[in-house]
Order: sequence, then structure tokens, then C-alpha cells
Amino acid sequence: MPDMDGITATERLSSQVPSAAVVMMSVQGEADYLRRSMLAGAREFLVKPFSSDELTASIRQVYSREREKAGRASAVAAAVALGARNHEPTSEGQVVAVFSPKGGVGRTTIAVNLAVAAASELGKKVTLVDGSFQFGDVAVLLNLNPKDKSMAELVPQLEEGRDTDSVEAFTQTHSSGIQVLLAPPSPEMAELITPAGVKHVIEILRQHSDLVVIDCAAWFNDTLLGILDQADVVLTVLTLEITSIKNTRLFLEVAEQLGYSHKIRLVLNRADTTLGIRVADVEHSIGRKVDHTIVSDGRAVVYALNRGVPFVLSNRESQVSQDVFRLAASIVGNRESHEEEDRKATQKGKSLFAWR
Ligand SMILES: Nc1ncnc2c1ncn2[C@@H]1O[C@H](COP(=O)(O)OP(=O)(O)O)[C@@H](O)[C@H]1O
Ligand SMILES: [Mg+2]
Repeated sequence: MPDMDGITATERLSSQVPSAAVVMMSVQGEADYLRRSMLAGAREFLVKPFSSDELTASIRQVYSREREKAGRASAVAAAVALGARNHEPTSEGQVVAVFSPKGGVGRTTIAVNLAVAAASELGKKVTLVDGSFQFGDVAVLLNLNPKDKSMAELVPQLEEGRDTDSVEAFTQTHSSGIQVLLAPPSPEMAELITPAGVKHVIEILRQHSDLVVIDCAAWFNDTLLGILDQADVVLTVLTLEITSIKNTRLFLEVAEQLGYSHKIRLVLNRADTTLGIRVADVEHSIGRKVDHTIVSDGRAVVYALNRGVPFVLSNRESQVSQDVFRLAASIVGNRESHEEEDRKATQKGKSLFAWR
């Protein structure tokens, strides 16, 4: 192995792909080496030379042992999850869908920078999901390659009903520390993604993260509705253009019928562009207040896009970054104050019982 030794490789494999079982093969059979391999996470050790029968027997043995273990672990996890759901409903991560009924308004820009800001500024454990399954842009903005790892490999697994506790094995780690679940590398693979599959993935991701940010596509279908259903917050992005405003108004009407109104937050992107429409006009037209605004900054945004480095990292001081920080703090802060209220409510409940 030219780049690293077997023990280091085993260590990395066991931490990054915990569902994989490593069988070590080495000429070194000393007790100390063996012990270090086991510590690194190897499940079996074969000292060279060995026969092909020995090899296959070991693989089969390790496989059945691991399967048994996984069965027991998932039973325990299910019990724990059930318990958690009954007692601590707020321990799961928050799901934020970034949506707009019209393309090109800045969803991807906001989703990516929001996710990175929540991790880098607020220290949150964040997973970003590219929900534009056909033509996802998240990979480009973060300079990642979907051919390395993406949803494409994950979805068939879900369809076979296999254990997917290892969703993390399908996310890429960005240098900012966020986990990213990319859209498939080619559009036709998007057909494989079912609403049930997406739902399952979000459920798992929210158990592993404080915050799950989903960059949604601009059209309504079952998959999108599934995402909006699961979201705690739907950031609805609009710009000061008549088409965007009209579509947002239509979306808000549908959202009300679907019972999403309480989780919608309006984000006016490029809010300082003066092209004849003022923020007050927008609010009047759609009949509700804009919750957040983000300035227009073509230089910072497009430069960041072309370099593949989010502007909240490369251009922290700019107004557009500051606006995103404020958005991130508001989303995370809101959640924390709700949790605080819940805690106080439970404490109050307790002291009441104590009094009785
Ligand atoms: N606040 C902003 N200031 C300047 N340009 C922006 C801003 N937000 C988005 N853009 C630009 O607008 C275009 C569309 O943004 P994008 O995030 O891809 O939109 P969407 O995902 O909604 O289709 C991109 O070229 C992006 O760089
Ligand atoms: Mg986009």
C-alpha cells in the first residue's frame, strides 16, 4: 500500500464507513501488530500465506457475525428512538427547506452559505442536501464531485429496504466541516429517487445533525411535498421581480391549504436592487411581511461561485455574508428559544408535581 499503511487505512475505513467490516491480510503476525489492527477496527486477521478456502471462510464468518450484530443494534436503536420520541421530541436536528416557486432567485446560493455559516459561525453539526435531483448545483458551489459520492448510490439501497444507518457513508465532508449529500451526477438517475426514499433519508440525517438544510427544486411534485412536509422551516426565497412575487403569492395560497403557513419564512434576496419595486410593495402584494433580507452583491457572489468557495468563508466581512449570518442565527436561535421554553415548561411541570 503506497500511501498509507494497513492500520491507518483500517482506522479510516472503520470511522468513515462504520458499516463495513475490515479483514486484514498481512505477512506480519506478531501479537502487537495484531492487537493494533484490532484496535484500529479490523474484524479478522489473516497471516500470509493463507489458502483461498481460509479467506472465503473468514469473509463469510465476519459477514454473518456483523449481520447478527447489526440486527441487534438496530433493534436497540429502534427502542432508543422510540423512547427519545416519547420523551425528548426536540433532540432531533432541525430541517430547513430552501424553496422558491421560481428558479434563479438564489436558493442554492442561500442554502449553501446558510449551511456553511451555521457550521463555521455557530458551531452546529450541519448536513446540506441537494434536493434539485436532476440539475443540482450544490457540488459546483462547494467544488465537490458527485462522481465520488452522491445520492445515486444511496437510493437503490433504500429501495431494497436495506439498513441505511450508514447514510453518512454517502455524504461528502466539505472543508468547512459540513456534510453534503449531493444530487446524482447525471439527470436520468434522479428518476430512481422516490418520495419515500427521500423521506427516509431526511429522517436519518436529522438524527445525525443539528441542522439539515435542503436546497429544493423549483417545481411541485410528490418528492418536494414530502420535503416540505418534513421541514420545520420553509425558507421561501423571492426577489424584487414581478414574476417571482406573483409565484410566491400563488405558493403561499397553496401552502396555506396544505397547512404549511406557520413554518414559512420569506427571504427577500437581492433586496436592495432598485428596479421600481420596493419591499413595501412586495409585502402589500403578497399580504405578509418579509422576514429576512439579503443584499445583492454580484461581485462577491459570482466570484465565490466561480471559485467554488462560499462567500461566508472567503468574504466574511461583506454585507451579503453578514445578512446570511443573521439569517442563520435567527433560525438556530429560534429553535433554541423554543427548546428553552420547553425545558422551562417541563421544569415548571416538575415543581408543580413536587408541590403536590
Ligand atoms: N444576493 C445575491 N447577489 C448577487 N447575485 C446573486 C445573489 N444571490 C444569487 N445570486 C446569483 O443569482 C444566480 C442564481 O442563483 P442560484 O442560487 O443559482 O438560484 P436558484 O438556486 O434559486 O436557481 C446566480 O448566478 C447567483 O450567483
Ligand atoms: Mg439552484
